[in-house]
Amino acid sequence: MKVRRPRFVPSLYRPWPASTFSTPPPVVAVAVLLLCVASQARANLPDRYTLRGGALSSSYRGGQPQEPQEYIDPTNPPVLPNEVPACSVQLLEQDFAHTYGSPPAYSNFSAPENCQWNRAVLEMSASCTGEQYDRISGVWIDSVEVLRTSTAEPTPAGVFWTVRKDVTRYSSLLVTRERHQACRGGGARRRRDTLPKLRHVWVMLENIVDDVYTGIYHLNLTLHFYQEGGDQAPPRSRSLLEAPPRLPPLLIEQFGTGSLNQERLDLLVSKPADLILPVSHDKGSNEGFWFRIQREADARTGNVQIPKHAYRAVLEIYASAHGDDEFWYSNPPSYYIDQNRITPRRGNGAFREVYATIDGLYAGSVVPFPVVFTGGFNPLLWAPVVAIGAFDLPSYSLDVTPFLGILLNGNTHRVGLGVSYGIPFWLVGANLHLWLDPQSNSVSAHFLKHQAPPVSINYSNKSQNLDGQFKLEAERVAHFEGWVRSSLGNLTYFLDQQYKFRSSISIENNGNTKEVYSKAKFKTDMRIEDAPNVILARLYHKAKYPITVYTAAGPGQQGTYLRTNVSHTMYEKGALTVGSTIFLNSFAHSQNSQGWMEYKNHSVLSGSASSQQTYKHNDNGICYIRIVNAEGGNLLRDQSSTDCHFA
Ligand SMILES: *[C@@H]1O[C@H](CO)[C@@H](O)[C@H](O)[C@H]1NC(C)=O
Ligand SMILES: *[C@@H]1O[C@H](CO)[C@@H](O)[C@H](O)[C@H]1NC(C)=O
Ligand SMILES: *[C@@H]1O[C@H](CO)[C@@H](O)[C@H](O)[C@H]1NC(C)=O
Ligand SMILES: *[C@@H]1O[C@H](CO)[C@@H](O)[C@H](O)[C@H]1NC(C)=O
Ligand SMILES: *[C@@H]1O[C@H](CO)[C@@H](O)[C@H](O)[C@H]1NC(C)=O
Ligand SMILES: *[C@@H]1O[C@H](CO)[C@@H](O)[C@H](O)[C@H]1NC(C)=O
Ligand SMILES: *[C@@H]1O[C@H](CO)[C@@H](O)[C@H](O)[C@H]1NC(C)=O
Repeated sequence: MKVRRPRFVPSLYRPWPASTFSTPPPVVAVAVLLLCVASQARANLPDRYTLRGGALSSSYRGGQPQEPQEYIDPTNPPVLPNEVPACSVQLLEQDFAHTYGSPPAYSNFSAPENCQWNRAVLEMSASCTGEQYDRISGVWIDSVEVLRTSTAEPTPAGVFWTVRKDVTRYSSLLVTRERHQACRGGGARRRRDTLPKLRHVWVMLENIVDDVYTGIYHLNLTLHFYQEGGDQAPPRSRSLLEAPPRLPPLLIEQFGTGSLNQERLDLLVSKPADLILPVSHDKGSNEGFWFRIQREADARTGNVQIPKHAYRAVLEIYASAHGDDEFWYSNPPSYYIDQNRITPRRGNGAFREVYATIDGLYAGSVVPFPVVFTGGFNPLLWAPVVAIGAFDLPSYSLDVTPFLGILLNGNTHRVGLGVSYGIPFWLVGANLHLWLDPQSNSVSAHFLKHQAPPVSINYSNKSQNLDGQFKLEAERVAHFEGWVRSSLGNLTYFLDQQYKFRSSISIENNGNTKEVYSKAKFKTDMRIEDAPNVILARLYHKAKYPITVYTAAGPGQQGTYLRTNVSHTMYEKGALTVGSTIFLNSFAHSQNSQGWMEYKNHSVLSGSASSQQTYKHNDNGICYIRIVNAEGGNLLRDQSSTDCHFA
């Protein structure tokens, strides 16, 4: 993972100091100066870096020795409860020092007794001091992944942060057998005596500690349970697919008891799954529960056996990119890497797709959101506001209810996971969420239609030596149809999935500047009919993930100089149509970061950066907006409002 030593010719060029950051020299002048710089290594940008000790003090956070600093992710507060929890249980407290190659940390817990709750939040508080790379981490409860997170990179003064994630959708894993009273937790309606007494929690965080990388990550994991009531329950999670709204009382009257009342809607689309089966690596493995996928041919499968009274199924996929594929959306084609003999080989083009199969049949795919870890591009860009999703990596839900026609025969079935065009390596795992008929022990289902043409991709590659222009467009559509007959009725599911992906990479100035743009756009449309051409409900989901990265490298005073601008957005919109009523829920989280640094051996020696982010959540007209700006390592502004015209 080492970059080649800089081989710059001496130059009068100097980076502009932090104090004149807002008025950098014109780009033209920079470009001309960069032209006389020959460094093949730069063509391999971006990369990952760590924050080196005292050297940073000249231009970062005012040059003073610091108190430990809090890192934040402005996504969470609007979608989390802020009252005092009804009860809490500590899961695990652990130091992750040199844990590379070791099995995950492990603990037991049992749910708190006599606690009424309908919502659960997993809280991870973490801290670290010294110099260390960002690390990826996963949390599993009984082999089911409930959180994929990455760490903030420490400084000598220390950093700390808290991740809070709504884990209500995993309710069935959070209940245990009680000695006295029935626990009415979440959606778990399993008979008490079938519940385990203890749950197992596992945390994987592979860290390397040596003379240079001294940071030890301390994690403390707690579950908080809340009892929320009333119709005014706040927005619950990022996606409507995870948490559709409650029907207003008027609509319940309108639909009466025969059609789609609240209870039926809850059973159909809203309540947490009754059972969650992991699609993961065998337990006890030193590698953790995730599959380490090295390349496209390295698809993995997990076996699942499904209760015969399942009436709904959703496959939730977790995926993160590492090693030479950490910045996959900026990778040029392999021939460019070969021709210019660039190492490490971050190639294979800029398109990746994480897909799932059921008994070998394509069941859906996603182009993952490009999560930037805190050491990515320039660590100062993420100090102290981390990149979108870095503390709570998104998971992707594929509705696989039409596949129940295959899955319900009581046999073992294979769920496969793979990364198209992947290079080493990806960490991928999945959870199969299943809803079980409360009134019947047997559900019948039939798979009617499976249309899944292969992904279509067009490339345009142009290059001369280290400069090049690489463009691609990819598109995929799929259509699935099937009926499921349960005590909810004989419902037919029509599911359409579509995505489009566009990418452009432009490398200029003999490999010293790089501009990357990519955008993934998704549409999922599911119609549920309870008689031919009678739509009972329709779920529509749209997402857009654009990212732009600009990097320019040159010689610095002490090391290599690098300027980087990153802009990215996570945008999602969901609609649930019931009769003539539409429920809408959307969020848009945008982040623009720009800065410079000088580095040597992957360590940042000096630099400065600023960032602006806006998080906007709208749940049926109830709006929440939060604006957070940071500069030079300090928060300048952190304001929120329920008036979305606020700016
Ligand atoms: C977890 O519980 C099992 C018994 O079910 C016990 O054998 C094991 O030692 C416990 N492990 C920890 C870390 O508490
Ligand atoms: C860990 O979290 C628990 C529960 O929130 C708290 O009581 C405990 O003090 C924390 N430990 C540390 C070292 O902060
Ligand atoms: C362009 O690059 C892509 C991979 O990124 C590769 O599959 C394709 O073959 C290349 N086309 C040409 C004409 O080199
Ligand atoms: C690729 O090119 C073909 C032929 O021009 C076209 O039909 C197809 O829609 C293109 N695919 C994408 C994803 O742009
Ligand atoms: C369920 O509905 C579908 C479509 O209307 C129909 O073809 C099928 O026979 C029905 N299944 C049962 C068990 O009634
Ligand atoms: C990068 O960000 C800086 C500071 O906002 C801006 O002046 C510059 O024009 C940006 N460069 C590019 C190529 O977007
Ligand atoms: C950079 O790394 C090389 C080889 O790993 C080492 O010899 C050198 O001392 C390092 N330089 C600095 C400034 O850390």
